[in-house]
Amino acid sequence: MSCACTTCHIIIEEGFTSLEDASDDEEDLLDKAWGLEARSRLGCQVYPEDELTIIKIPKYTINQVSEDH
Ligand code: FES
Repeated sequence: MSCACTTCHIIIEEGFTSLEDASDDEEDLLDKAWGLEARSRLGCQVYPEDELTIIKIPKYTINQVSEDH
């Protein structure tokens, strides 16, 4: 629920249209995500109601957490 990074970037393979639209904050963060696709979302911002929603994890993510933590 943070909507503060792009670590949870996912791509919705099925069920994209059943999700609520992304907020402006989510869209701004998605613009910084590696491998952005038309069906990209931030996993912490989507609340699927359809059991058939399928997601794909991108090959790379930008991990905002330092290894020192
Ligand atoms: S935006 Fe950082 S965990 Fe979802």
